[in-house]
Amino acid sequence: MIKIAPSILSANFARLGEDIRSIETADYLHFDVMDGHFVPNISIGIPVLQSVRKVTDMVLDVHLMITEPLRYVADFVKAGADILVFHVESQAPDKTLESLRKIKALGARTGLSLRPKTPWEILLPYLDELDLVLVMTVEPGFGGQSFMEDQLPKIAALRREIDRRGIKCELEVDGGINPETARLCVEAGADVLVAGSAVFGAPDRAAMIAALRDAAGKDGHS
Ligand code: DX5
Ligand code: ZN
Repeated sequence: MIKIAPSILSANFARLGEDIRSIETADYLHFDVMDGHFVPNISIGIPVLQSVRKVTDMVLDVHLMITEPLRYVADFVKAGADILVFHVESQAPDKTLESLRKIKALGARTGLSLRPKTPWEILLPYLDELDLVLVMTVEPGFGGQSFMEDQLPKIAALRREIDRRGIKCELEVDGGINPETARLCVEAGADVLVAGSAVFGAPDRAAMIAALRDAAGKDGHS
């Protein structure tokens, strides 16, 4: 079953509670954290996550686009992250392993993300430690960008490696997802789809969530 994760980066932050209720038929709530350093943009952080945690039981899928995530992972788990994803490029490999272990020890699910230019093989040493891999299909930092089709082979390669190892690691894609690109991603092997502008910009958000699931289901592998 394909999971849909609306990104609240495209929500109206002055009406966040209502906007969250409007997407509760989805599976995960995707929460983008940007520090103005790892990516050029600044978004939301720990106090907003704490408030969101109080108003929803949805699985909170937190995507850290920040430098030195090791310094903050414990705070994000304590603030309510169910899945905590950070970038493999954002710190040295020993700190990456330490961050993953910390997240696990605190009882959250682990995830690593990679920028479009980063080869998928960089994840090989970490795959067994991961509950989720997040492939960026746009340059991280902004919502509303166009899907990068050249990332499809990376999704397919990761699908093959996850299946070969027989591990329970979800394969999530993020950036430029609409019903058409959703289908391409699922054909390539993705099983969780993040969508910001497609969901929050739709006149009927529940219908868009259903449309993304449908588009994905047509030729999907699940
Ligand atoms: C981009 C963020 C995405 C973004 C996706 O850096 O990680 O989660 O919100 O937005 P859309 O779906 O509009 O491309
Ligand atoms: Zn994201």
